[in-house]
Parts: sequence; C-alpha cells; structure tokens
Amino acid sequence: MSKIGITVEVDQPYDVALGRGLLSDLAAYLPDDAKRLMILFDPVVAGPIPALVDDLRRDGFEVHLLAVPSGEEAKTIAVATAVWQRLGEAGFTRTDVLIGIGGGTTTDLTGFVAATWLRGVPVVLVPTTLLSMVDAAIGGKTGINTDEGKNLVGSFHQPAAVICDQDLLGTLPTEEIVSGMAEVVKAGLVADPSILDVVWSGPQETLKPTSPLLTELIRRAVAVKAEVVADDPDESGRRTILNYGHTFGHAIEQVEHFKWRHGDAVAVGMVYAAEVAVRAGLMDPSLLGLHRELLSAVGLPIAYNSGRWAQLWPAMRRDKKNQGRTRRLVLLEDVGRPVVVRDIPEDLLEEAYQAISAVPGAAPYPVKTAADYTLENPYGTPAYVPPVDEDAPAPPSQSGSVVS
Ligand SMILES: NC(=O)c1ccc[n+]([C@@H]2O[C@H](COP(=O)([O-])OP(=O)(O)OC[C@H]3O[C@@H](n4cnc5c(N)ncnc54)[C@H](O)[C@@H]3O)[C@@H](O)[C@H]2O)c1
Repeated sequence: MSKIGITVEVDQPYDVALGRGLLSDLAAYLPDDAKRLMILFDPVVAGPIPALVDDLRRDGFEVHLLAVPSGEEAKTIAVATAVWQRLGEAGFTRTDVLIGIGGGTTTDLTGFVAATWLRGVPVVLVPTTLLSMVDAAIGGKTGINTDEGKNLVGSFHQPAAVICDQDLLGTLPTEEIVSGMAEVVKAGLVADPSILDVVWSGPQETLKPTSPLLTELIRRAVAVKAEVVADDPDESGRRTILNYGHTFGHAIEQVEHFKWRHGDAVAVGMVYAAEVAVRAGLMDPSLLGLHRELLSAVGLPIAYNSGRWAQLWPAMRRDKKNQGRTRRLVLLEDVGRPVVVRDIPEDLLEEAYQAISAVPGAAPYPVKTAADYTLENPYGTPAYVPPVDEDAPAPPSQSGSVVS
C-alpha cells in the first residue's frame, strides 16, 4: 500500500505519514539518536502493541509501556503525574522519546507530558481516531483538563512525527468516525472546497474505515491543517479559522457536561455559525442549506435542544477565542472564505440559536437538497474522481457525485 507524507513546515518541520500498515514501521519515524522509548497507549488499541514492542526491542530500543485511561480520564494532572514518575524512574533524558498511541485524549496527554518533562522531549504521535488523525495530533497543541475547564492547562509542543495508519481505524465505532467527519467537513468549509466534493461523492462510503474515499479525505484534511499550522504555529492569527463551529460547539459540550462527542457538538456549531452569518448578511442562505445537507448526509446532528440559551450564552462568552472583553466568532462569507467577526449583538446570536433549536425543516431559508448539488456545483471545484489503485478494493459507487 502506498505511503504519503505531508510535511508541517514549522521551525522544526515534521512529517505526517499517511497510509496503511505504518505502525509496524514506527522505528523509521523516530529521531536518529533515540534509544529509550516510553509508549503511552489507550488500552482499547492494545491489540497491535505487543508485536510493536517486540519489533522495537529487536531493533535495539529500550521500551517502556504505560497504559493510560481511555477518553477524557487520561487528561488529568493525576495521570500526568503518574507518567512523570515513570519517566523519572526510567531515567528519561532529552534524547529519549515519548510515543502516544490513541485518540485525541491520548495524544493531548502525551504531548503535554513531552512538553513539560525536562522542558521538552521529542514526541511521536500515532492517532487512532479520525478526529485525532485530521486534527488533534497535528499542530502541537497539547493539554489536560482541570476542575476549572477543558484544555485550560497546556503548551505548544510540536511532535517529531505523526503516523496516521488507517488500519488502526478498523476497530473504531462508526459513531466516532462520524464525529471525526465534522472536523473533515470543517476543513472543507474553511479552506478546501474539494473536500466537500469528496464527501458528496459517497457520504456513507466515507464512514468505512478503510475506504479509498476516507483515505482521500484524511489526506486533504491533514493538508489543510498542516498548511494553516505552518502559517500560524502558535495560534496568534489565521489558525483561529480552524475553530469554525467551535464557539457554539464548546458551549454545547459544557452544557452537556462533555457527554456529547466533540465532533457532534462542532457540527451543530457550524450550522449555528452559518445561521449567524446569514443573519449578519455575510453569507448566502444556500450555503446554510449546504451545511445542513452535508453534515446530515454523514450522520452528524444539525440541531440542538431549545430552552438552553441562558446556559449556552455564558459558556460562549467564556470562549478562549475571545480577547479581553471582545467576543470573537469565526464565520464564513463563502466556502474557503472564513472571517473573524467581533461583538455580534446578542439578540442576533440568540435568534440564530432559536433557528437551530427549531424543528428541522422549519428553517426560514430554502434548504437545498443533495439533488440540487448533483445538478450544479456552486463552488466550481472539479468533481472527485478516485485514483486508480490496483491494490485497492473496488471503488465505491459514485451515484451521489457532484458534477461540475
Ligand atoms: N490538540 C488539539 O489540537 C486538539 C484538537 C481537537 C481535539 N483535541 C482533543 O481531542 C480529544 C478528542 O479526541 P478523540 O475524539 O480522538 O477522543 P478519544 O481519545 O477520547 O477517543 C474517542 C473514543 O474512541 C476510543 N478509541 C480511540 N481509538 C480507537 C480505536 N482505534 N478503536 C476503538 N476505539 C478507539 C477511545 O478509547 C475513546 O473512547 C479531546 O480531548 C479534545 O480536546 C485536541
């Protein structure tokens, strides 16, 4: 199976390797002077770990293994302290390497420990969820949660390499792939309209862990993230566009006590942002229809319960993207044309909330159907044609393709 590498051009550039069967080749992605390794892993992906450790030991590495809790339980100061203790016992030095194998919670924790141990040791990340492949593992944002909130303690620390082995998605429940798809669609909406074409070309097919359509989506979404991060590594400017849908999404996550999947909340957040943009006269209403159609087609939610504005609004005002007392929201003027808008009046923001909490179908704007998009491609991007790969399984049906 072919491998692709996308380089993230930060101060110390690193590769995001994409493909299948990459985990067994992990040694090839380690820094040259690495001798001692500590692998932090989510126990749900323990299957391939024994063979990996055997290989690494055969290659002469000293390997330490530490299972960390699944999910947000990993991102606590207690878990970080336990890892620091193990690093101390193992005598970890600045040339030794941490490896994180798991979803975004594992990669956030591993990155955080790597950023803080000896003020920074190399880290190689092996994301095992779609969300962590296209988003969390790339870009150097690391963090843990505290009683005061999510991701409030952390540091920027770029990895030495990121290995996205699509085979690892094989055990991932479909609802987690769906959740990750929100970040894929977001990358399409803010930066690369061709991603939307690929999703349209087979929304259900994209949810199959090893489908060529998903391979293509991961590649394009990683390319968006790599380019934006390289342009603004410490999120002081343009990188904020990647927060599209996240202000309202984070508010939902807080109100729901983090029982909602991140991607599900971001999907509703993007529809909310589109409702705001239409009301603010920034965006054509048909693009709001596109948000709804695309996100629904891959099984993401597009509406949120009514009667919660009194809880959502304070959460939105505490958003990390705000600066001092200035509230900021990422909106779209069009696909690929994000803008950061300041201090939108609260009544407009509440109106947009009322719209997304209304019964689906009651939206005051005409909602285009998928059929409309098979007849016209509003963004002028070429239709997606899967590459010919003789090793690949039969190509998916193209019945829903966008025709340019
Ligand atoms: N650092 C960043 O830039 C950034 C960006 C986006 C999100 N995040 C963080 O990422 C986290 C969300 O990421 P996530 O959705 O990957 O969360 P996660 O790590 O909790 O994974 C989701 C679930 O899938 C399970 N899982 C992981 N890989 C699996 C596999 N291959 N097979 C079966 N089950 C598997 C996990 O145990 C968990 O239950 C949040 O903490 C969020 O704050 C960070």
